Amino acid sequence: MLLHSYHEKLAENINHTLNVLHVPTHDAPSLIAMMVRPPSPEKGDLSIPVFKLAPNGQNPAAFAQQLVHHLKTTELFSKFDAAGPYVNVFFNPQTYAQKIIENAGSVPPVPGKDVEPVMIEYASPNTNKPLHVGHLRNLALAESMIRLFSHNGKKVIRAQVINDRGVHICKSMLAYEKWGRSTTPESTGMKSDHFVGKWYTEFTKHAETNPALEEEAQAMLVKWEQNDTHVRELWKKNNEWAIKGMFQTYARMGATFDVNYYESEFYQNGKDIVMQAYEKGLLKKADNGAIIVPLEKFGLPDKPVIRGDGTSLYFTQDIYLAMKRFHDYPTLERIVYVVASEQEMHFKQLFATLKLLGVPQAEKCYHLGYGLLTLPSGKMSSRAGTVVNADELMDELVQMAVEEYNKRNPELSTSEIARRANVIALSALKFYLVKQDAKKELVFDPKESISFDGQTGPYLLYTTARILSILRKSTHTLDVHAANLLTLPTEKMLLTILSKKDEVIAAALRNYSPHVLGHYLLDLANTFNTYYHETKIIQENEKLEKARLALANAIRQTLEEGLYLLGIETLREM
Ligand code: ARG
Repeated sequence: MLLHSYHEKLAENINHTLNVLHVPTHDAPSLIAMMVRPPSPEKGDLSIPVFKLAPNGQNPAAFAQQLVHHLKTTELFSKFDAAGPYVNVFFNPQTYAQKIIENAGSVPPVPGKDVEPVMIEYASPNTNKPLHVGHLRNLALAESMIRLFSHNGKKVIRAQVINDRGVHICKSMLAYEKWGRSTTPESTGMKSDHFVGKWYTEFTKHAETNPALEEEAQAMLVKWEQNDTHVRELWKKNNEWAIKGMFQTYARMGATFDVNYYESEFYQNGKDIVMQAYEKGLLKKADNGAIIVPLEKFGLPDKPVIRGDGTSLYFTQDIYLAMKRFHDYPTLERIVYVVASEQEMHFKQLFATLKLLGVPQAEKCYHLGYGLLTLPSGKMSSRAGTVVNADELMDELVQMAVEEYNKRNPELSTSEIARRANVIALSALKFYLVKQDAKKELVFDPKESISFDGQTGPYLLYTTARILSILRKSTHTLDVHAANLLTLPTEKMLLTILSKKDEVIAAALRNYSPHVLGHYLLDLANTFNTYYHETKIIQENEKLEKARLALANAIRQTLEEGLYLLGIETLREM
């Protein structure tokens, strides 16, 4: 918002001068649209071409001269220069630092009044196994996008689909029924979703030597679709365990949902829709009786939507689900699907199918993909049961943070260590996850992520806590009105970085790229820490100290705001 206020004031100033010169004025938005940044900082902070401002027949360069002659310097603008047909404008250094510092503490617009909300679909698990580390990347990326949208005044609807039916679900059910019936999560002391996942792994192990199990699972799915009482009871029990455990993991990550869509409740509608489309001649039938969406004209491979045995597919429920969402929320501006890049083709085919079926909002669907997450030990495999699940990784990070505290601050109480270690572990996890460009693959190195002196979440938390401690230590209170004393090169650099905050946040939102904000925060913290080591903030000159405190506090506010937008909580003391 900082630059914006300069834009507005400059527009006012220009119009005032045009009036004085008896030349037609322009509305503020069109003047602002003309403003550009000069090619280099010595040429000024803003530049405005005068082609459209000069009265008919007057030479633009001459008019620029005339404008400059009449433009009045103000609290915000200290100098105007004519450069050919451009007027270059210089911000007043006496007030600029103060404006930047004040902007750091400004409050963003209140979300919720938006009539065209954005739905962000994320997490969206299958109920045959617990959340894995890939879901953590999903949760972290989605949370920061949600906060960026809200920060921009958008109303966001947090949604997930719970894929609670299908052959993979039947696999863990089947294994449990065959080999685990007498046990429960309680009797084994396992977290309930881990318990379900254990049976999925068992199934996979046995199926390697006994392929008939695959057919049994498929047969169970048919029975499930026929509403077989026994299969449905088994399914209900397993699903409740899976879902209960997943919501516990969401709570740890701070993930919440406004609406949960359960595939089992509407998968049948997907079938109905594709059958109607088939009657209309939009789809085709394969030799084995399967129903297929022809997608050649979209340059995509065809997609089956009903199997030969009549059962439905994951893809099929997604067709109906998209329609249902636009029906339930008719004013949705868009739906953002936060789903692994592995499913890129799925979503291309889905959005093309929606178009083919004549769904008018097909264009409003966007797939925000993200690359595979692995651990340094190698690729995970859910089949072999070597996936590190989300809970285990979080436990490991918390454990590492606790150990660090036991070394560094053994005087703290156990409960205080637990509280702080949890915040540190989450900051390590979330920052590492969003710092990398979502499109790229990521190897999650727990040690590196939690290091206090690396480019990490804990390092940023450490920097905010350090600034708070400086503010506490000083016997003075900060004073933004002294900000014109901030003239050291590093101070100027810090002010420049601070002045870019709003642009960076806007770019992170526009390009679905929270990592841009992550890098920005690191740049700010690194520059501040250099400054801290080479400069005395607390010192003899009281006025200067107050100015530096104001700068440090603006940096803290910016770091905290940025971390908040990345879904990360801070600590007042490390
Ligand atoms: N449950 C799916 C999976 O784990 C992801 C669902 C993504 N969302 C969707 N609308 N298809 O692979």
